[in-house]
Parts: sequence; C-alpha cells; structure tokens
Amino acid sequence: MPRVVVFDEFGGPEVMRVVEEPVVEPAAGEVRVRMEAFAVNPIDRMMRSGTSPAPVPLPHARLGVEGTGVLDALGPGTTGLKIGDPVVLTAVPDPSARGSYAEYTTVPASRVVARPAGLGITEAAAVWVAYSTAYGALVEKAGMRPGDHVLITAASGGVGRAAMQIARQIGAVPIAVTRHTARRDELLAAGAAAVVATDHADIAEAVGRHTGGAGADIVLDLVMGPGQQDLLKAARPGGTLVAAGFLDPRPAPFPGGPPLTVFGYRSFEHTLDAVAVKRMAAFLNAGLRLGALRPAVDDKAFSLDDVVEAHRHLEKGLHAGKKIVVTVS
Ligand SMILES: NC(=O)c1ccc[n+]([C@@H]2O[C@H](COP(=O)([O-])OP(=O)(O)OC[C@H]3O[C@@H](n4cnc5c(N)ncnc54)[C@H](OP(=O)(O)O)[C@@H]3O)[C@@H](O)[C@H]2O)c1
Repeated sequence: MPRVVVFDEFGGPEVMRVVEEPVVEPAAGEVRVRMEAFAVNPIDRMMRSGTSPAPVPLPHARLGVEGTGVLDALGPGTTGLKIGDPVVLTAVPDPSARGSYAEYTTVPASRVVARPAGLGITEAAAVWVAYSTAYGALVEKAGMRPGDHVLITAASGGVGRAAMQIARQIGAVPIAVTRHTARRDELLAAGAAAVVATDHADIAEAVGRHTGGAGADIVLDLVMGPGQQDLLKAARPGGTLVAAGFLDPRPAPFPGGPPLTVFGYRSFEHTLDAVAVKRMAAFLNAGLRLGALRPAVDDKAFSLDDVVEAHRHLEKGLHAGKKIVVTVS
C-alpha cells in the first residue's frame, strides 16, 4: 500500500511516522498526484511542533505544502490534463489533510501547473513556494519596478534567495540582510547587489549608503519581531513594507517611523487565484528558461524513510537556507 507521513501529537521531528494507507479516488474536479519529491518548509516544522498560526487537527495529521509528481488519476469534470502529465503543486491550503509528504495526494485540478521544462525533479519539488511567495509579495503586492531598491531580510533562505533573483530579473536592485558577516560573499554570489550584515552594521545607515541617502523603495520582511523597527527606518518615505514571514516569534511593535504602506502577505492571496497563478507560472518559466531564476537545493539527499532526519537537518540550520528535498520514488 502507498506510504504517507503522519503525526498524532505535536513535538520534535520524531513524532512523524510513515504509515501505509489506501489511495483516495479523486472527486469531481480533483486530480491524484503520484508524488516524486517534496520540499521541507518552515511552516511544516511549525505545524509539527504545534506553533503554526492555523490550527492543526490531531491525530493523524499530514504535512507538506509543496512538491512535484505525475498525474495518476483524474476526477470527473477535469479538463486539459492527462494521466502521466508531470506537475508541480501550487497551493495546499489544507496540508494536514492533503499534505505532500506522501506517495500520493489528491488536490483540486486548479492546484497544479505543468512542471517547468528542463527542471529536474529535485529542483521542481522546491521551486514553487519560494518563488511564488517572493513574486507575489514583490511584484503583485508591492508593485516592484526596474530600478527599485529592494531590502530583503532572511536573504540566504529559500524565499530570500528567490526574491533577490526575481528583483534582478525585473531590473530592480536587491539589498540582502543577514545576521552574519560571514555570509556576505555567498549572498553576493546568489545575486545581492549589496549585503547588510546586522552583526556589524546598522541597517538604516547601510541602506542609506547604498541608495544615495534615499532609503529602500520596498522592504520584504521575512523575519518580523522587534527587528522590524530597524527595517522601517531603512525605507524611504512613501515606500512599501511587505511582511511575509515570521522567523522571529517575538512580537513586532506597531509600525512607526516614516509614512509607509505596510502590507501583510500570505501567498494564498495569489496561489488560490487561477489568473494570478497563470501569471506566476509564466514569470517562473521565463526566469528559469533565461537562467535568471536558479532554485538552490541542499546537497544532502533524503528519502521518505529519512523524513525525521530531514526535519532535524532543518532545525539545526544545516541547510544554510537552501531547500531541503525528500525524494519519494
Ligand atoms: N507569506 C507566505 O505565504 C509565506 C510563504 C512561504 C514562506 N513564508 C515564511 O517566510 C519565512 C522565510 O521562509 P524560508 O523558506 O525562506 O526560510 P528559510 O529558508 O528557513 O530561511 C532561513 C534564513 O532566515 C534567516 N533567519 C532564520 N531565523 C532568523 C531569525 N530569527 N532572525 C533573522 N533571520 C533569521 C537565516 O539567515 P541568516 O542566518 O543569514 O540571517 C536563515 O538562513 C518563514 O517565516 C516562512 O514561514 C511565508
């Protein structure tokens, strides 16, 4: 019988176990995907440990918000798709029921797009969440334009790296924020036009220097917490801050400082909208084809049986911000 990862209680990586379950037939408008690989995201760790903002019903919760595979069965009423098509999942708003950590999952047909041509299974498993979030936050939400100075926190992470490449593809100027000076060269190689390392530099002062005193046009905050105040001071008056991540669990004070437009962002705002998904997929395919977008995957290979180890790898930060991918078949 096909295998699936479940957990019955909140806790460390060891609460996950692999069980066998019969496949589910797709309902009207749904497809069943035979998964080939999935990526591990910070939200998976939050769900597993009981710190996710959305409630996770227990027991027998599944995990996983992204991955790639081939269509294995089509429910009544699906059009334009055929069995065997290679696809990427675009949104899993109910991962505790339909998570991608499995040999099979069943999702609405609108939640898959064709796997980008020329992309290997490992990269395809890790491409959608990071790039769709960065694209949605910067292009769709903040209206990023060529020449904009874009300040990107957690720049060495999956979303941050994607954001730097997307800014470059548009012709904007990505300024990376890291906590460690030692990461400067790695971030410059990953696409940063400049790097601000908070162990040595004051963010507002450094951004002022890199923008001729103007400040950042757009700030992508993937960390939040009290450090958001420093980001607000680094933005130009009239600029935009998009808060899209929450790596620092401490509260963020109410935004003060210069007059800015401040958005909270969840990628479902766009990934559940078929028209926006079409734009996202077109942008992603163009960027991959041109070589502007290059998903960074951790070198360490994991199989479904290693899923506990894959989460330990994430928790220890051994992935250094690259995506951790688990191969299913
Ligand atoms: N809004 C949405 O729909 C959406 C979608 C996807 C992801 N997200 C969120 O976006 C955030 C980033 O996701 P990701 O996949 O890019 O994460 P990731 O790959 O795990 O990012 C890791 C990087 O973030 C930095 N970091 C980690 N903890 C930090 C802290 N406490 N303070 C400051 N920096 C910290 C580190 O960089 P340095 O060591 O170099 O500082 C690290 O390399 C997460 O909170 C995730 O849940 C939101």
